Amino acid sequence: MKTAAVVLAAGKGKRMQSDVAKQYLMLCGKPVLYYALKAFEDSVVDEVILVTSADEIAYCKEEIVKKYGFAKVTKIIAGGKERYHSVHAGLSAMSQCDYALIHDGARPFVTPEMVERILEELQKHDAVVVGMPCKDTIKIVDAENFVQNTPNRNLVWQVQTPQSFQYSLIKTAYDTLIEKENELKEKNINITDDAMVVEYFMGKRVKMLEGSYQNMKITTPEDLLIANSFLE
Ligand code: CTP
Ligand code: MG
Repeated sequence: MKTAAVVLAAGKGKRMQSDVAKQYLMLCGKPVLYYALKAFEDSVVDEVILVTSADEIAYCKEEIVKKYGFAKVTKIIAGGKERYHSVHAGLSAMSQCDYALIHDGARPFVTPEMVERILEELQKHDAVVVGMPCKDTIKIVDAENFVQNTPNRNLVWQVQTPQSFQYSLIKTAYDTLIEKENELKEKNINITDDAMVVEYFMGKRVKMLEGSYQNMKITTPEDLLIANSFLE
C-alpha cells in the first residue's frame, strides 16, 4: 500500500502580518515548514509533494529540502490562489498511490506517531481527520454578531491536519470541486478544509480522530510564542 502526502506552503499568511510568509519564519533556528517535512520524512509515508508559491520553489529546494536531506520530497510545485487550488495541484502531482494525506505546512507539531495512528484508522474508514474537542463554548452568530444558537460543546471539535483519504475518493472530490467552483461561490460556500470537500460532494462519512492540543496551526503572531515554548 502506497501513501503520499501533500504539504501545503503556498499561502501568504496575511493574518501573521509579517514580511516573510509564516511557513518560512524561524522557530528555534529552523523554518516553520521544516518541522512538518521532518515528521513526514521520519514517518511511514512514501512520498511528499511540497506545494509552495512559484517564486519560492527554488528557496524550498535549496534551503529546506536539500539542506535537511528530505529524500521523500519528490516534487516541489506551485500552488494556487486558494488553499483548495493548492491541494488540487498537489493531488494531481502525486504518482500512483492508495492513500493521500493533506497537511498544512504551518502545523509544525504533527508527528510520525500521529501519521501512523491516522493510517491505521484509514484501514477502517474512507476519510479520517485529526482534531480535538473544543475547550471553549462555540456560538453561531448572524451577520450582525447576534447569537443564533449554541451547539452542544461535547459534540464540537476543532479540526486539524493531517486529513487523510483513500486517494481515489479525495481526487474525485477535488476534481468535482474545481469543476463546480463557480457554483459554490454563488452559494457563498467557503471551502476551508479537505473533509468538507468529501462531505459536500461525495456524501461519505468522515471519522474524527484525536490529534493533539499541541498540533496547532501557526496563524497569528502570538502563535509563534506558543510554538517556541513547545519546542524549548
Ligand atoms: N495554503 C496554500 N495555498 C493557499 C492558501 C493556503 O498552500 N492558496 C496553505 C498555507 O501555506 C498553510 C495552509 O494552507 O500552510 C493553511 O492555510 P492558512 O493557515 O489559512 O494560511 P495562509 O492562507 O497562508 O494564511 P492567511 O489565511 O492568514 O492568509
Ligand atoms: Mg488562508
